Amino acid sequence: MCGIVGYIGTQAASGILLEGLRKLEYRGYDSAGIATVLEGEIHCVRAKGKLINLEEKLAGEDNPARIGIAHTRWATHGKPEEYNAHPHMDTDQRIAVIQNGIIENYRELREALKSRGCEFRSDTDTEVIPHLIAEQLATLEDSSLLEAVRLVVNQLHGAFAIAVISADYPDELIVARQQAPVVLGFGQGEFYCASDTPALVPYTRAVLPLENGEIARMTPLGVEIYSFDGHRLKKTPRTLNWNPVMVEKQGFKHFMLKEIYEQPGVVRACLEAYFDGEWAATDANKSPIHLGLAPELLADLQHIQIVACGTSWHAGLVGKYLLEQLAGVPTTVHYASEFRYAPAPITPNTLTIGVTQSGETADTLAALEMEKKRRSSFTQPELQSRLLGITNRPESSLGDLVPNIIDTHAGIEIGVAATKTFVAQVMAFYGLALDLTDRRQAKSPEQLEEILVGLRQLPAQMEVVLESQERYIEELAHDFAETQDFIFLGRGINFPIALEGALKLKEISYIHAEGYPAGEMKHGPIALLDAKVPVVAIAMPGAVYEKVLSNAQEARARDARLIGVTPMDEQEAADTFDTLIPVPHVDELLSPILTVIPLQLLAYHIAARRGLDVDQPRNLAKSVTVE
Ligand code: F6R
Repeated sequence: MCGIVGYIGTQAASGILLEGLRKLEYRGYDSAGIATVLEGEIHCVRAKGKLINLEEKLAGEDNPARIGIAHTRWATHGKPEEYNAHPHMDTDQRIAVIQNGIIENYRELREALKSRGCEFRSDTDTEVIPHLIAEQLATLEDSSLLEAVRLVVNQLHGAFAIAVISADYPDELIVARQQAPVVLGFGQGEFYCASDTPALVPYTRAVLPLENGEIARMTPLGVEIYSFDGHRLKKTPRTLNWNPVMVEKQGFKHFMLKEIYEQPGVVRACLEAYFDGEWAATDANKSPIHLGLAPELLADLQHIQIVACGTSWHAGLVGKYLLEQLAGVPTTVHYASEFRYAPAPITPNTLTIGVTQSGETADTLAALEMEKKRRSSFTQPELQSRLLGITNRPESSLGDLVPNIIDTHAGIEIGVAATKTFVAQVMAFYGLALDLTDRRQAKSPEQLEEILVGLRQLPAQMEVVLESQERYIEELAHDFAETQDFIFLGRGINFPIALEGALKLKEISYIHAEGYPAGEMKHGPIALLDAKVPVVAIAMPGAVYEKVLSNAQEARARDARLIGVTPMDEQEAADTFDTLIPVPHVDELLSPILTVIPLQLLAYHIAARRGLDVDQPRNLAKSVTVE
C-alpha cells in the first residue's frame, strides 16, 4: 500500500527522499508529501495526486536538511486530498509522522485526544500518532523521542509501519513496525528506511527488515533496535543480491512491457534452479528436482490447500490442476481474505501453501499466521511446520512467517499488474507437482522426463510468441478503442489463464472483462454477448480442445467477435475464429506459460493505446498491506 521512506546522514535529504518515492510510487499514488528538519523547524510540503505534483511544488527549493521522511499514499481513511496527505504533524508542528497501514483503534484515540483539547486537521487514522507523541514528550521526565514513540506504538492496534522526526530532535529518526513492512538501509554515516527495498537499492545493499514489534532509533552515528517493550536487540544487516539496473525501465516504455519481456529469462532461471539432470538417467532414489524442501514437508500428504489473492490466486488454480492431475493430491484453492474467516477444518496431513509476489499481502499473511497457530496443536514438530510459501521475495514478511519457501526467481516486479511473477509462480508449481508426482510414483520416470523436456523448450517458445506477436497485438489493440466489455474463455488448465487475461485487462485498461470456464458460458454469461462484446478463447489441442472450439462457436452464433489463442497452423481453429493469435504447438499441460503472454500483451496494448498509466493503474497498489 503506501510507500514510506526516511533518511538521516550527511547529504541533503530531500533529493534522496524524492528518488525513494519515485521507486515506491507503485505502492500508492493518490498523494505524496515530504518533511525535513530545517533550521529548528519542520518543513513539510504535500501535494494531492501523483508524485509529479509534489516535485513541481518542490522545484527550485534548495533544502540542505540532512534528515527527513517522505510518503506516497494509497488512501484508506479519508479522501485523497492534500489535507489527508502524509506527513501529519502535532498541534505545535514539532513532530512529523508518516504511516503505512491502518490504526484500527484510531477513533477512540482521536476522541480521547479531542476531549483533551487536540484539534485535528485531517480525516486520517495517522494523525493521532503525532498528537500522542507530543503528549508523551510533554509528560516524560527524561524527554526521549524514542521512549515517547515506544509508549505510543504500544497504544496502537492494527497493522502499521511508521517513521517519525521531530524539530526538537534533529539528529533522530524513529521507525517502528507492527505487521506492515519496513526495511532499514545502512550506508557510511547515513541511514535509510523504506517500506520496500527498491527505494534503498540505489544507495546501499546492506539492509535489515524490521520485524513485528520492533522500533529503531537512527542517528548519523548508527542504528539501535529495541522491542516494543523496550529491550535492546542485536541485529546484523544482510546483503541484498540486487543491482540498481533491476529497478530501471531499460529502454522499455513501461515496466509492465519490460517485465513481460523478462519472462523467458525468469523461466530459464526457474528451470536452472529447480531441475538438474534428467529422470531417465537417474536411479529411482535420485530425483533431478531440487526445490530445497525438507522431505517430511511432502511426506504422506492427503490434501493441499493454497491461499492467495488476485493473480497469485490464479497461479494457485494452475497449481491445483497440476497437483491433482499429475501428483494425484486433492487440492483446494482459497481466497486468503475468505479463508481467514472461514477456514476448512485442519488435518495433520494437509500442506498449506501461501502464494504471493510481494510477500506482504495482509490477507495472505494473516491466513498463514492463522494456519501456523492452528497447526501448533499437533504434537509432532514436522506436522506443525507444514507451511510453504511461494514468492519472488524470500526476504519479505512471508519469508519470516513460514518455515519453507520456494523462491520463484522473478526478482522485483515494479509494474502494478503482475506478469513475470505470475509465470514464475506457475513454474514453482510445475516444480512442486513434478516433485510430488515423483515421490508418489504417480507417473513413470519416462513420463516425467517428457514433461521436463517440454518445460525446457518453453523459454525459446515464449521468445517466439513475443517476437512474432507483439507488433500484431499492438495493431489489434486499435480495434478495441471503444470496447466496453470483454469475455475470456478457457477450460482445464487454461481456465485460470482466462481469469488472468480478464483481470489484466480490467485492472490496466478499466474495461469490464470476465473470465469463464468455456463450458459455463451457456449457463448465464452468454446473455451478455452481441457484436460489441469480443470473446477471447484459449484453445490448445488436448483433452478440451474440441469442447472449447464448440463453446466458441456458440459465441459466434451470437455475433461476438471471436479471438483465438491457439497453435499455429490449426485448420479447425482457423475456421472457427475471426482473429487468431498463434502460439507454438505445446503440450496442453505446459501451455499456460505460453497462452498467458498474448493476453498480457493485449491488455498492455489496449491500455497503452488508451493513453492510460499502465504501470500505476488507478486505485491499485502493488503491495496490499491492509485487510
Ligand atoms: C494483479 C495483481 C494483484 C495481486 C494481488 C496479490 O495484477 O497484481 O491481483 O496479484 O494483490 O498480490 P501478491 O501476489 O503480492 O500477494
